[in-house]
Amino acid sequence: MTHPVSEPLPAPEAKHDYVEAMFDAIAPRYDLLNSVLSLKLHGRWRHTAARQAELKAGDRVLDVCTGTGDFACELGRWVGPTGEVIGTDFSKEMLRFGEPKLAKHPNVTLQWADTQALPFPDAHFEAVTVAFGIRNVADTQQGLNEMARVTKPGGRVVILEFNRPTNPVVAWGYGLYQRLMPAIGGMISGRRSAYVYLPASIDAFHSREQLKTLMETAGLHSVTVTDLNLGTVVIHRGIKK
Ligand SMILES: C[S@@+](CC[C@H](N)C(=O)[O-])C[C@H]1O[C@@H](n2cnc3c(N)ncnc32)[C@H](O)[C@@H]1O
Repeated sequence: MTHPVSEPLPAPEAKHDYVEAMFDAIAPRYDLLNSVLSLKLHGRWRHTAARQAELKAGDRVLDVCTGTGDFACELGRWVGPTGEVIGTDFSKEMLRFGEPKLAKHPNVTLQWADTQALPFPDAHFEAVTVAFGIRNVADTQQGLNEMARVTKPGGRVVILEFNRPTNPVVAWGYGLYQRLMPAIGGMISGRRSAYVYLPASIDAFHSREQLKTLMETAGLHSVTVTDLNLGTVVIHRGIKK
């Protein structure tokens, strides 16, 4: 049982520009809102997802849709000083608010790039990750194709993303919580529309099974699906062929 969110999402052809402008606008309050809306649990989810990338010292990692770089910095801890993490995003403002974090993470760099057209050669990274980003990419399949393309054979693609809980009682409670998001997000960010978009985009996103199929179409195998936080947050992990 879910509570459908009535406000419309942008039309598919408008989504790319809509999302870029939205994240530019909420960038100053993005980190604060992440902590408030996740009750500070997002750090733990990132840690669990990073473990699934099976990184070792010296690995080269790409984190797409990196936003203000929190997941990139988490990954930086796993690859050590000889490793390298590149975080990419198409919102210049999100990247700008991430830059100060890099002082404590010298093995992490941030750069502008569209996930649908990554400026890296084929088979370049040991792991490619995305946290709460793939739902926002206008063409999910194209984003996944690009993530898989730049991953080395045997490398891992890890996706941390919201999804709909399968337990009906949890789904009912989560529906109520989703209805509070616009009020809380609007109050803190001053952009209510972004926090109307958030629950609506979760409702409209691919199911666990659909996302797994899209990953397989992108050339990933042995895809695993792990539920976190009562099934409201999900990790998909696939291996590049
Ligand atoms: C919800 S934020 C997640 C940020 C970060 N990964 C985190 O875990 O906090 C989603 C990010 O995806 C970015 N994004 C969406 N579509 C994109 C695309 N096609 N190319 C690059 N970045 C994109 C947005 O600019 C935004 O920073």
